[in-house]
Amino acid sequence: MIRFDAVSKNYPNGTTAVDELSLELAEGGITVLVGPSGCGKTTTLRMINRMVEPTAGTVSLRGRDIREVNAPELRRGIGYVIQHAGLFPHRTVLDNIATVPMLLGWNKKKARTRAAELLELVGLPAEMAKRYPNQLSGGQQQRVGVARALCADPPVLLMDEPFSAVDPIVRAELQAEFIRLQKELHKTIVFVTHDIDEAIKLGDNIAVFRTGGKLAQFDTPERLLAHPADDFVADFVGQDRGIRRLSFVNAAELPLRDGPVLPATAPVAQARAADEPWVLVVDEGRRPLGWASVAELADGGTLADASLTPLGHTFSLVGDSARAALDSALLSPARLAVGVDAEGAVVGVADACELSAGTTAVQAAAGEQASTEAESASSESRATVGKTSADTPGGGDR
Ligand SMILES: Nc1ncnc2c1ncn2[C@@H]1O[C@H](COP(=O)(O)OP(=O)(O)OP(=O)(O)O)[C@@H](O)[C@H]1O
Ligand SMILES: [Mg+2]
Repeated sequence: MIRFDAVSKNYPNGTTAVDELSLELAEGGITVLVGPSGCGKTTTLRMINRMVEPTAGTVSLRGRDIREVNAPELRRGIGYVIQHAGLFPHRTVLDNIATVPMLLGWNKKKARTRAAELLELVGLPAEMAKRYPNQLSGGQQQRVGVARALCADPPVLLMDEPFSAVDPIVRAELQAEFIRLQKELHKTIVFVTHDIDEAIKLGDNIAVFRTGGKLAQFDTPERLLAHPADDFVADFVGQDRGIRRLSFVNAAELPLRDGPVLPATAPVAQARAADEPWVLVVDEGRRPLGWASVAELADGGTLADASLTPLGHTFSLVGDSARAALDSALLSPARLAVGVDAEGAVVGVADACELSAGTTAVQAAAGEQASTEAESASSESRATVGKTSADTPGGGDR
C-alpha cells in the first residue's frame, strides 16, 4: 500500500534524518513508527504526504510513485493528525472538523452535516460543535483533531504522536477509542510514537528506528517482544517483555484442571480427598462462591457450612489473555487462577507455574507458525511481515 524503496533524507547541515529506508506498509492496518527522539519518525511520516521530499529513493502509494501526484491531490487522500491537535483557534469545533471538505468545495451545509457525524463518531457530545478549541480539554481537542483528519474519509491516516500531550488516563481512553474506530473504519494508518507500550497496544506492525534514521526491526508486536533483532531493540522494548508477551496468548488455550473445584453440596471428606490446600466452592451453575482452606474445615457436613475466603478476580476464557490469567493467579488467596466461560461458570483453575508452562507451549507452537508465515511473506516482500499472531484474540490488555 505505502512503500519506501531505499529512501533517505539528508539535510544540508549534514544531518541524515532517514537512512536508506525500505519498508512496505500493509493496507488497512496500523503501522507504528517508534524510536528515540530524533531518529527520523516524523521525517518518515511527512515523506508520505510530501511535506518532506526524500533526497534519494522512492515512496509509492498503491504502486504509484508519489512524485507523480501533485501534493494537494495526494493530501486529499491522506488525513494528518499531530500532537496538540493543531486546531484553528478562531474556528468552532464543527468548522475545524469540516476544514478539508470545505477545501474540497463541498457546500457548507453538507460539510457541517458530515462534521457533526464525525463529532459523534469520536465520542464527543453534539453541544461541543459550537465551542472554540480553547474551551475543550486536551483530550477533547485531540478527538477533534482525529475527527478533522477523518472528515473527508481519506483511505490513509498519518498520526504524529497524537496522544502524547494528554495525561495517562485520558491517553488510555483515546487509545481504546482509536482501536474501536479502526475496527469500524479499516484505514491504512501510520502512527508515530516514542512510547513502546503505545506501539505494542496499537500496532499491527511496528517499525523500530534507531538514531541516525536507520530501521532496526520491522515486525509484529508479538515477534518484536519474542525475537528482538539486536540489543538495541531488546533494550528499547524493555526488561518486562516476557510478561508483556503473555498478552498475545489467548487464555482459552491454557491448560486448566478442575480437581480443586467442588460444589457447595460436596461433603468435607471429598474436599480432603482432593489433596489440595484450597478448594474452590461453586454453586449449582458452577459459578464461583469462594475458597475454602481445607485445613480449617470442620469434619463432617458439607462445604456449604465452610466460611469462604473471597475469590479475588477470575479470568475469562473468552477474550482474556494469559497475562490476565497470571495476574488472577498472583492475586488469588489460593495462588490459583480461576478461569470462567462466557456465562461466568468455572472451567478450571491453574497456578502460576502451570500457566507459565502452558503459555510457553502455546508460544512455541505459534512461533513455528509465525516463522513459516514470515518465510512465505518474505518471498513476496523482504520488509513485510504477514499479520500473524497479532490477530490472536486476548490482546485486549496488551
Ligand atoms: N529541517 C531540518 N534541517 C535539519 N535537520 C533536521 C530538519 N528537520 C529535522 N531534522 C533532523 O532530522 C532528525 C530526525 O528528525 P525527526 O523530526 O524526524 O525525528 P523524530 O524521530 O520525529 O523525533 P521526535 O521523537 O523528537 O519527534 C533529527 O536529528 C532532526 O534534528
Ligand atoms: Mg517527531
